[in-house]
Amino acid sequence: TSLKPYNTFGMDVQARYFAPFSDGAELAALLARVPHSPRMILGGGSNVLFTRDFDGLLLKNEVMGIETVAEDEDYAYVRAGAGENWHRFVQHCIAHDLGGLENLSLIPGCVGASPMQNIGAYGVEIKEVFQDLEAFHLSDGTVERFTVNDCAFGYRESVFKNKYKGQFAILHVTFRLRKNPIYNTTYGAIEQELARMGVTELSLRAVSEAVIRIRSSRLPDPLKIGNAGSFFKNPVVSASDYARLHLEYPALPAYPAAQEAYAGSSPSVESGAMKLAAGWLIEQCGWKGFRRGDAGVHERQALVLVNYGRATGEEMYALSQEILESVEKRFGVGLEREVNIIP
Ligand code: FAD
Ligand code: EPU
Repeated sequence: TSLKPYNTFGMDVQARYFAPFSDGAELAALLARVPHSPRMILGGGSNVLFTRDFDGLLLKNEVMGIETVAEDEDYAYVRAGAGENWHRFVQHCIAHDLGGLENLSLIPGCVGASPMQNIGAYGVEIKEVFQDLEAFHLSDGTVERFTVNDCAFGYRESVFKNKYKGQFAILHVTFRLRKNPIYNTTYGAIEQELARMGVTELSLRAVSEAVIRIRSSRLPDPLKIGNAGSFFKNPVVSASDYARLHLEYPALPAYPAAQEAYAGSSPSVESGAMKLAAGWLIEQCGWKGFRRGDAGVHERQALVLVNYGRATGEEMYALSQEILESVEKRFGVGLEREVNIIP
């Protein structure tokens, strides 16, 4: 099977075995049929770069269903199948007047991948509204429940990308959503967009629409140009490294890193640590709009690498390596890839 329709970078690679599953029993049966080969769970393929053919069993998560499983005075607890499209799920919650996910409108991919890297945008990360998830242990078929603490969420991180990498298939995720929304419009661009839209009274729909407009104007549509969103994470540097950089480059955009950590601070973020805009660093190195063959750097967002058609995964990866090295050389800052490189 060509994986081209199954990854937003549009890599035309093959998987030795490819199969969808819609529940834990189907997944168990597939694993039993192909016992000794590498396996991987795939959602919408919007955060992966296949660098070559996948010599194993690729399992497409198609666990569906959305239901409200509990309610109390302030919250509704909504459980979604991991294969549900993320944006459709967000729209479902908005249509039911439930708040918390509106800032995360239009992020590509499926519900099941959202905890993998604790997806975030416009001042919100899912850990803020995450209740729990159910995950199937690939080696013994048991289903385990993970609470927010079990997931060890960080900036574009979770236990599933680290300690438990490749060990679980997430089947369902439950979110704790507000019946009386609290709007988060602290991210400057949202307020500007709401003003432009002529919105005088906030609503879930208005915030969602503002986010959709901002995203559509800045990020390339994978249906038109292959990409996987931000290729790198925004790097976090110590207070002293930031002081050095700020002196030399006063225009470098930076934000206190702890601001985004939940409950005010995270043990892994040292005090005074700053998060830098990787897009700015890459742009300063002259990469914005760069193109070699079909591999390039988006012309409006230097953090997004693009495939104009027939670039290979190896070419995309090689380009990312050159970018990483040039940023390190010029600024002494190490970038880390956000996109999952397969294998
Ligand atoms: P996939 O790409 O299919 O998988 C990603 C990883 O998760 C893989 O390692 C895969 O093995 C694993 N995985 C997937 N599903 C499961 C499962 N059910 N169980 C176990 N493992 C699983 N991300 C953000 O955080 N914020 C953004 O603003 C953002 N903007 C984007 C904009 C564009 C245009 C694009 C293309 C991407 C953007 N992304 C963003 C990245 C991406 O949308 C998210 O990471 C998304 O959650 C990936 O979902 P997916 O279903 O496509 O995952
Ligand atoms: N910038 C540049 N040049 C560029 C790109 C950006 O100078 O080419 C500057 C901008 O001017 C701005 C700053 O960098 O001052 C930040 O840019 P932007 O608001 O576009 O956000 P980002 O840091 O590039 C992050 C996330 C996105 C998320 C947006 C909105 C990461 C790695 N990326 O991008 O997430 O949608 O903020 O919250 O954290 C993704 O993870 O795939 C993704 C798209």
